[in-house]
Amino acid sequence: MTKIDIRESWWIASIEIPTRLVLAPMAGVSVQAFRRQGRRFGAGLVCSEMVSCAGIEHRNERTLGYLRVAADEHPLAIQLFGSDPRPMAEAARMVEAAGADLVDLNFGCPVRKVTKTGAGATLLDEPDRACGVVEAIAQAVELPISVKMRRGVRNGSRDCLVVGPRLVAAGASSLTLHPRSAQQMYTGAADHELTAELVELVDVPVVASGDIVSRAKAQTVLATTGAAAVMVGRAAQGNPWLLREIAGGSEREPSREEVVAELVLFVRETVRELGERRASGFLKKFYGWYLGRGRFPRAFKQELVLLDAVDEIERRLIAAAPGSLRLIEELESKVPTGDEVTLELPISIYGGG
Ligand SMILES: Cc1cc2nc3c(=O)[nH]c(=O)nc-3n(C[C@H](O)[C@H](O)[C@H](O)COP(=O)(O)O)c2cc1C
Repeated sequence: MTKIDIRESWWIASIEIPTRLVLAPMAGVSVQAFRRQGRRFGAGLVCSEMVSCAGIEHRNERTLGYLRVAADEHPLAIQLFGSDPRPMAEAARMVEAAGADLVDLNFGCPVRKVTKTGAGATLLDEPDRACGVVEAIAQAVELPISVKMRRGVRNGSRDCLVVGPRLVAAGASSLTLHPRSAQQMYTGAADHELTAELVELVDVPVVASGDIVSRAKAQTVLATTGAAAVMVGRAAQGNPWLLREIAGGSEREPSREEVVAELVLFVRETVRELGERRASGFLKKFYGWYLGRGRFPRAFKQELVLLDAVDEIERRLIAAAPGSLRLIEELESKVPTGDEVTLELPISIYGGG
């Protein structure tokens, strides 16, 4: 099998993506700390979690917070979900003003709260509407458009092979395929034979998403599908070292000190982004993700999950691996400080104008 160089760059329209590794958008996970860490460990492209078009339209403060972009995240895609062309085009303008490099459209979310509004995977059942959304956005912004989709709504569906080329004709510059049906949610396996078929049908780059859990799997999927890049989701949760491995770097397991240092930085950055109250609940799932995989005893993880005060969590983490302090300082010294990095959104976004 031909070995693919994951550290080779590729393009989505005019945007150069430095590696063939993309960090998946994940709701409740893809905060800035996750995206910046992903970039540091070798992801060539990172993506925000899905942002509600309706939330943007109604100037919901929390939704607008998702449009914050830091200078060390580029290239970055901000993902929108919604189903009406006009408000989606307006939301895409906001994404452009916020400084994203790509606007990504969610045509794959299987969650009922989203699909019942006609958004997410439902759009695969309504190709005319889906194309209308892409066309409206293509007219409204200069940013390249990427679309992320499932194979279809129902099990065994091959709708992505019909809808995908139409979305490209409507103006999409890249497609990401997670070849499970919406009905499957996350059960069964991602069928990357469909990814290979899609690659044959379109003349834009296709990104393969689903079950990329190792360097070997990434290589196999790239070689057998002709996809331009692989996307990693769940396997990168609490495990940025996998990204490094897939990107061709070291395969060694991180030391306890490295794990604690990355987690402490993650906690600090997330508190800065979300505020301590929101961050405290948000972060709980990450403790298991980082400290699991045999890295720390189960009882230690459970102890942290019960705590709410993040400074106490940090204290216990550092006590469990005192050598991490030096690494934390080193990591912190490389984090650009607030004012340098945050591209301020135009005032009108906050003012409702
Ligand atoms: C917790 C979670 C949240 C997700 N949120 C999104 C999302 O906001 N937008 C999206 O396009 N896909 C989302 N996905 C799907 C992932 O991007 C990805 O396509 C899927 O998990 C398959 O890849 P994996 O096997 O590498 O995890 C989510 C997946 C998970 C597990």
